[in-house]
Amino acid sequence: MISQQTIQQILSRVDVVEVVGSFVKLKKRGVNYIGLCPFHNEKSPSFSVSPTKEIYKCFGCGKSGNSISFLMEAEKYSYVEALRWLANKYNVEIEETEISPELKAQYQVGDSLYIINQFAQQYFSDQLFKSEEGDAIAMSYLQERGFNEDIIRKFQIGYCLQDRDAFAKAALAAQYNEEYLQKSGLVVVRDGRAYDNYRGRIIFPIHNQSGKVLGFGARVIGKVERAPKYINTPENEIYHKSKILYGSYFARQAIDKNDECLLVEGYTDVVSLHQAGVENVVASGGTSLTPDQLRLVKKYTKNLTIIYDGDGAGVKAALRGLDLALEEGLNVKLVLIPDNEDPDSYVNKIGAEAFRDFVKANKKDFILFQVEILSKDAGDDTNKKAALVNQIAETIAKLNKTEDFTKQQDYIRRCSDLLRIDEIGLNNLVNKFIRDKLMKQELKDQKQQNPFGQSDGGPGFGPPMMGPDGFEEPPIFVPGEEDAVQLFNKDEANERAMIRCLLDYGLKPWDEGRRVADYIFEESVEQGMIDNKELVRIMDYYKGWYDEGLEPTSKNFLYHEDQGLSAIVVSVMDFAYELSAKWNQHFDGKMPTVEDIYRNDVRSAINYLKIRKIRRLLDENQRDMQKPHNSDELMVLLQTHMALKKMEQDMIKANGTVILK
Ligand code: UTP
Ligand code: MN
Repeated sequence: MISQQTIQQILSRVDVVEVVGSFVKLKKRGVNYIGLCPFHNEKSPSFSVSPTKEIYKCFGCGKSGNSISFLMEAEKYSYVEALRWLANKYNVEIEETEISPELKAQYQVGDSLYIINQFAQQYFSDQLFKSEEGDAIAMSYLQERGFNEDIIRKFQIGYCLQDRDAFAKAALAAQYNEEYLQKSGLVVVRDGRAYDNYRGRIIFPIHNQSGKVLGFGARVIGKVERAPKYINTPENEIYHKSKILYGSYFARQAIDKNDECLLVEGYTDVVSLHQAGVENVVASGGTSLTPDQLRLVKKYTKNLTIIYDGDGAGVKAALRGLDLALEEGLNVKLVLIPDNEDPDSYVNKIGAEAFRDFVKANKKDFILFQVEILSKDAGDDTNKKAALVNQIAETIAKLNKTEDFTKQQDYIRRCSDLLRIDEIGLNNLVNKFIRDKLMKQELKDQKQQNPFGQSDGGPGFGPPMMGPDGFEEPPIFVPGEEDAVQLFNKDEANERAMIRCLLDYGLKPWDEGRRVADYIFEESVEQGMIDNKELVRIMDYYKGWYDEGLEPTSKNFLYHEDQGLSAIVVSVMDFAYELSAKWNQHFDGKMPTVEDIYRNDVRSAINYLKIRKIRRLLDENQRDMQKPHNSDELMVLLQTHMALKKMEQDMIKANGTVILK
């Protein structure tokens, strides 16, 4: 865990314009900055950054948030990674606290492995470029395969000498720990002696999302004879094969730009395609896609295009596990490379442009493709055919999401065509799978229910800062039916107004000895005047900090680890008003300032909620009166009614400013 002090230090230095400006070209416009939104395609800028509020909002796609959520969204960082990025940018030294000794040990091993890998990468790179052997054996091989120097440098490809322990000696001489060297897979220890594991091989470093080296793939030079073609880094504290997509570090931006991720099998495929200018490409490492890898793809795009060699076992391997991709809502397409070629050899053979055209022209729908090859396999065998129909129905059932309904119907039609079966029958079968799935899910949910009752968490949040955040009334989280009613309730605007007052003016003076926050809490919190649970949560947090003597502002929420909180606060915040000079002339130089209007804002928000509360009590009283009562009881109810009515009238009279929206 990063210490609170470090976080404070980072946050006090963060400049949202600078952070966002590292990724988006910004122009000053009034008090704000504008630019082209990095989250959707646009030609004229609707993306706005407010340095005073420390937030950004896009008026086109509705994305909004702060520096941290920007990094999380644009760079797919975790909260902690975003903090580290900022710490690095603003030269804040990170102080870690409170992690368990085991975790700490694991981090330490991890850090050591990263350092060793970095050393090794540099070493192997030097051998390739600077040693005679590297030049004669490795560089000539790479060049023969068509890799140019730029691409070799970009992917940091290297060479490990044939000598049995040249690297091990260099690493030990540089004081690297033998145990960690072994863990990294770079070195094997036999009879107490350290030997190089990748002797005489081309070295492909494998990078994580921020460009650090996680491990290596080491390929023999030339034809494969007795030895395995590749030796890979063993599983260790930082290298988890099932979570890695080779090339993702270099592909990220191109995937964003194309809104598509190409998937190939091998290291060399990735490097060759990059060299040809096709950069939105990653490799799975020759096995079927794992759930973690799919999730990684999904962080970047919903469109996955698999490019495999047509005859290889690879295709079948790739098809396995892809049902999961459908369930995750990915659009999966398939491109098969002909004639025993793989993407690497094929792009070298036909050239970059022809390759791109080929991919475009030969994208097959994954489900239809599955039907095609499986029905070929099944032939005339009735049992096999029945099994196939079942399998396809199950696959289509996995598309069962509201947004995919038309897609699903379309597949049912096309598959029944391809398989020459009755469309209604297939439809029924699909529905059966959907019901099965729902029932299983229900059972599972029941089992998982917390026996001690639910926590009072309120409505769940979508991913931080995602929601279709309209500017005025932004539903930040994906609403359930109940939530939706709340969201579109006009009262909500006033509840939000009150929270905004608390955040913006809470620390300003209200009256003798009281600040705005004191006033708001006295008037509202105790009486439960806010309905929206999320807004209540903001108030509770604020109150907690305030009572501890802290001076909370919206910033405390913006950079809170719970980015759900941050999302609500951003949704509540006004974007900095942009007042042009004309206005000032219009008001004869007497523009009302925040200082002039904040009391009115606060009073107006509180009064609205108070009147609403009175009206609710009136309603309740009214309902009560309709029940049978004796005359004494009725009298009390009537008096209550009159008293409430008077309170309402008084409040409305006393405050000409209150406008009931
Ligand atoms: P390929 O055999 O297609 O290798 O295996 P490649 O990357 O295209 O290499 P070239 O073009 O023959 O030089 C695809 C991937 O499967 C994994 C590697 O990740 C490889 O990139 N693999 C393959 C191994 O891990 N070990 C092996 O022995 C072979
Ligand atoms: Mn290959």
